[in-house]
Amino acid sequence: MKIESLLIHGGIDGDKITGAVSVPIYQTSTYKQEALGKNSGYEYSRTGNPTREAVEKLIADLEEGCRGFAFASGLAAISAVLMLFKSGDKVILSSNVYGGTFRVVDKIFKNFNLEYELVDTSDLEKVRESLNRNQNVKAIFIETPTNPLMTITDIAKISEIARENKVMTIVDNTFMTPYLQKPIKLGADIVLHSATKYLGGHSDLIAGLLVVNNEELGEKIHFIQNSTGGILNPFDSWLLIRGIKTLSVRMDRHDENANYTAEFLKGNNLIDKIYYPGFLNHPDHEIQKSQARGYGAIISFVLKDELDINKFFKGLKLITLGESLGGVESLVCHPATMTHAAIPYEIRQEIGIEDGLIRLSVGLENKEDLIEDLKNALEFAR
Ligand SMILES: Cc1ncc(COP(=O)(O)O)c(C=O)c1O
Repeated sequence: MKIESLLIHGGIDGDKITGAVSVPIYQTSTYKQEALGKNSGYEYSRTGNPTREAVEKLIADLEEGCRGFAFASGLAAISAVLMLFKSGDKVILSSNVYGGTFRVVDKIFKNFNLEYELVDTSDLEKVRESLNRNQNVKAIFIETPTNPLMTITDIAKISEIARENKVMTIVDNTFMTPYLQKPIKLGADIVLHSATKYLGGHSDLIAGLLVVNNEELGEKIHFIQNSTGGILNPFDSWLLIRGIKTLSVRMDRHDENANYTAEFLKGNNLIDKIYYPGFLNHPDHEIQKSQARGYGAIISFVLKDELDINKFFKGLKLITLGESLGGVESLVCHPATMTHAAIPYEIRQEIGIEDGLIRLSVGLENKEDLIEDLKNALEFAR
């Protein structure tokens, strides 16, 4: 099956008992057991639930991996992955990962002696250097494109370097989704998502998904998921399945609208800088083109100095100021005070998240309406 069909029919398709085309919501915590040691395959919903299993099988199919897992949030999925490591191990992190990813590593896992190093993973030499310097590295955790600077990391090359050094490659694929990019096929061991974003797609749920490339890792993650309990509930599992069904049409339209919006911003003399991998002059445009079949719908930009950023946000009427991205509605945010506020000022400056940076998640509205809104806000900010 091609991915457009798999999005609709992958995993567990409908209900075998009644023929319902929509997977039922098994809103249950436990299951009747026929006798001691004799059950239906389900014992307790933290361990396994048929609705959650449907979305877990679906994401495993979509990412072409071995086994999938659904968590209560993207950060619960990320935390489960980090629990694979032991005190004294080290993880290399892409230097501008999502602020919450940095925070959980820096403020929680560091207390358990899991070490980390921020590395610009788009520079392979820097990754090699870090591996040579640190014998205790166990994994390279990359986000590509990164949030919010849209830096691209070559997944196949990183996976190759990781394999040579016997360390794992973990990819946060939130910005691309398996519709545009499949990290496991490029050599990654684990791929994960904030399914809150494009996979859910409607800004109505918080969820995380994770896929592994082998059964041994699957057993370990299942053990962690069951032991620590950060599972996705049955209703949100169902909502997520519903969202995923329309991913292909949404991503095509997101991509088209983002392209149009990026071109508008590029041609506007009130914009100082733009970060968008779809531009031919983006430093890693060719890598993005080779490993993904689109550029996604996130554009980050900086206004010219003479503009008032607060007035710009106030001037937007259609595009909403808010955290998150990947929903049907366009959202704009200020990373320095919102999504990336957990990263200390000095580190933000070092990795390029300047105070004037604006992140735009281009939604599915009419593209002319979006341009009109941006034009008005830019005028208002003058
Ligand atoms: C790239 C990326 N990864 C992970 C997360 C965390 O996901 P969640 O908010 O679902 O916990 C986010 C949230 O914004 C994100 O943008």
